[in-house]
Amino acid sequence: MMLTLGGDIAAVPSGLADATGRRPRVEVGERLRFESLIIDLAAGFISIDPERVDQAIEDSLRRIVEALGLDRSTLFQRSGEDLVVTHSWAVPGQDPFPKVWGRADLPWSYMQVMSGEKIVFSRLDDLPEEAAVDKALIQRLGPRSNATMPLVAGGEVLGALAFGSMRTERTWSPAVLDRLCTVAHMVCAVLARRHMDQQLRAALAEVQELRERLERENRFLRQQTRSAIGMPRIVGQSRAIQRTLSLVERVAPTDAVALIMGETGVGKELVAEAIHARSTRADRPIIKLNCAALPATLVEAELFGREKGAYTGALSRQVGRFELAHGSTLFLDEVCELPLELQAKLLRVLQEGEFERLGSPRTIRVDVRVIAATNRDLEQAVADGRFRNDLYFRLAVFPIVVPPLRERPEDIPVLVHTIVTEIGGKMGKRFEAIDVSSLRDLQRYTWPGNVRELRNVVERAIILSGEPVLRIDPPERRGTATAESLALEDVERLHIVRVLEQASWRVRGLQGAATLLGLPPTTLETRMAKLGIRRPA
Ligand SMILES: Nc1ncnc2c1ncn2[C@@H]1O[C@H](COP(=O)(O)OP(=O)(O)OP(=O)(O)O)[C@@H](O)[C@H]1O
Ligand SMILES: [Mg+2]
Repeated sequence: MMLTLGGDIAAVPSGLADATGRRPRVEVGERLRFESLIIDLAAGFISIDPERVDQAIEDSLRRIVEALGLDRSTLFQRSGEDLVVTHSWAVPGQDPFPKVWGRADLPWSYMQVMSGEKIVFSRLDDLPEEAAVDKALIQRLGPRSNATMPLVAGGEVLGALAFGSMRTERTWSPAVLDRLCTVAHMVCAVLARRHMDQQLRAALAEVQELRERLERENRFLRQQTRSAIGMPRIVGQSRAIQRTLSLVERVAPTDAVALIMGETGVGKELVAEAIHARSTRADRPIIKLNCAALPATLVEAELFGREKGAYTGALSRQVGRFELAHGSTLFLDEVCELPLELQAKLLRVLQEGEFERLGSPRTIRVDVRVIAATNRDLEQAVADGRFRNDLYFRLAVFPIVVPPLRERPEDIPVLVHTIVTEIGGKMGKRFEAIDVSSLRDLQRYTWPGNVRELRNVVERAIILSGEPVLRIDPPERRGTATAESLALEDVERLHIVRVLEQASWRVRGLQGAATLLGLPPTTLETRMAKLGIRRPA
């Protein structure tokens, strides 16, 4: 077959060059066909749907190869110092080319392309001497003739488009080269446009995610009015609490993980809020999750989020607390209760800042400061195999122990004062003084439920006491007073109330009264109703 596409030099397989230099009529027809093919491809590229770009490029490569009687065409795109084959077409029976071409494989060609120069040879010997390494490889791979056009957009080389003849040598007329150059420009434009389109979509998705996060954050903010109103105040003058506070001051401005330990009701959550409020992240809301409050599968979705349809019943997409806490602090309460498989996932976020939503392969990166709390002995949990050793070490970088109230009775008067002012104010009750002997009694009590129990006791006293002097009885005194009745029902009532107070009136959960009493929560609730036990307002 002979092809002459304008210009003076005929593009013909070199062995069959037209000796007479005449242009047979058939050439004109073929030239026209090639021209109209190029116009056709251009028209197709102008309004192409970004999703169809790959297919359109491959079609074009095939049609050009067929029209010019070539064997293959390859589109390389730059990736660092490599050229990677992203699209190709070859006549049947051709071995595929390697996918990645390193700079070292084709040093001369690489430099040529990177300088925006084309590479054209009709036979291997046309290549200059400097191209010795390239020649050796090309010889091995087989192309006899080749024309490679650089892909240049905005002054930057994106890759190259190569056309090759594997079976015969052929010459390339300036007109053909000119058209191939046009094709390279078109492909380049279409790739650049798709790249922009992808960036635009990514930006839109990001905006969408940001909006969802803001909405969730807003909801959270409304729920967490307490932490929104100024800094949480940790009351106490004892050496023990002052030591804790100085640790808070030290760790707050760093991004270190903090582990807060202490009995129930000592103020661990308050300490976590204080750390956040004194940190560089304070302008964003602290996000919280109680790891014991939900079954394992739900905790996983709460922490890491899930895609719609991640499991049966996952009807909508859920953004996890880790995403929500991006740029802020995540408080993981009762971290000891986290199931083992989630402990592994948590460790990964702490180490790499990475995780995936349930039901999604996409890795999400976050910048989150974690504060964990537990009222259990984590070291014991590690020894029992219930808590991962590596996670423990990761969390315990900066441990803060909040001392129990019985170890700092000197804090009781000031705590009582603060609580009376706060709760009394809300109830519209004003007291001129607090009975001194009450304070002494309160200081003698052991407070298994710590400050939370103290709050409950003070609250009940405010309701019951007359003005102007507030009398507060510690729980034990109330206990002995009623224990004089030996009726089974009274003893039962008393016992349940005591346990409830110890559990800060929580019925359910691991630390709840039902667990402590060894009863199902519903049974306990029925008995409470029967015995007329109600949580004090
Ligand atoms: N030093 C303190 N000053 C003022 N209020 C305090 C102090 N310590 C605790 N409280 C109050 O006591 C109650 C219990 O505190 P918090 O919820 O922080 O305890 P916790 O250690 O997280 O308890 P749990 O282990 O049951 O989760 C809260 O109402 C808190 O405001
Ligand atoms: Mg707590």
